[in-house]
Amino acid sequence: MTKKDILRLYQCREPIAALTCYDASFAQACEQAGVEVLLVGDSLGNVVQGQRTTLPVTMTQMIYHTEAVCRGCSQPLVMTDLPFGSYQTSPQQALEHAVLLMQAGAQMVKLEGGAVMAETVAFLAARGIPVCGHIGLQPQSVHQLGGFAMQGKSDSAAQRLLDDGLALQQAGADILVLESIPAPLGQAITERLTIPTIGIGAGSACSGQILVLYDLLGLSPIMPPFARDFLSGRGSIQEALAAYVQAVKQQAFPA
Ligand code: KIV
Repeated sequence: MTKKDILRLYQCREPIAALTCYDASFAQACEQAGVEVLLVGDSLGNVVQGQRTTLPVTMTQMIYHTEAVCRGCSQPLVMTDLPFGSYQTSPQQALEHAVLLMQAGAQMVKLEGGAVMAETVAFLAARGIPVCGHIGLQPQSVHQLGGFAMQGKSDSAAQRLLDDGLALQQAGADILVLESIPAPLGQAITERLTIPTIGIGAGSACSGQILVLYDLLGLSPIMPPFARDFLSGRGSIQEALAAYVQAVKQQAFPA
């Protein structure tokens, strides 16, 4: 999968199936199930390391997990999160760290933030780095947000998120993750943009869906309200992954 293949799915209105992934064995299993985008997410801080937030995750760790995922698969598009503190200082800082992730095997980098990150997105895009934006609930800003609550609930907050999405698209973002926002807002942003949106707790109208792999397997001690345990009632991890891909493709998930 290249960024062009993802765009083709979007243009054909075929929902994009994405999952987070942190190691080679799961990358192979996800590939066999037909997952199209693997995100080496900084959520590895939560589900692999047992941290309360994603803030302690380092560049060295993101490189290590990106290399592991890339060794395990060849088909899905692999994108990797720029971790907290690795891109907010300046576009130059973001470029230096994005280069390290691309050298580790990522085909795209993801960063959190709205219009304020537009300059950085444009800087990366102009230098050959595909970029995925991430708005709505931004886990790296958890302390500023005061928790992991749904975003965009008031009219003004919803308008701000729409403006953020447009600013990131204008700057050259290739994909936009929408996390934990009301479903009608997910739909409105998806309809206004001309790049794919990947939702996590953002309703079924997004161009694709993503879940944290360990939530999909029912392993997380605290399941986010928008997650579903696809392993429950099924005999194997492979069946659970295939059921997730099928549910996304048929727009049966999220309900
Ligand atoms: O790190 C992560 O898992 C993410 C998803 C929530 C999209 O950014």
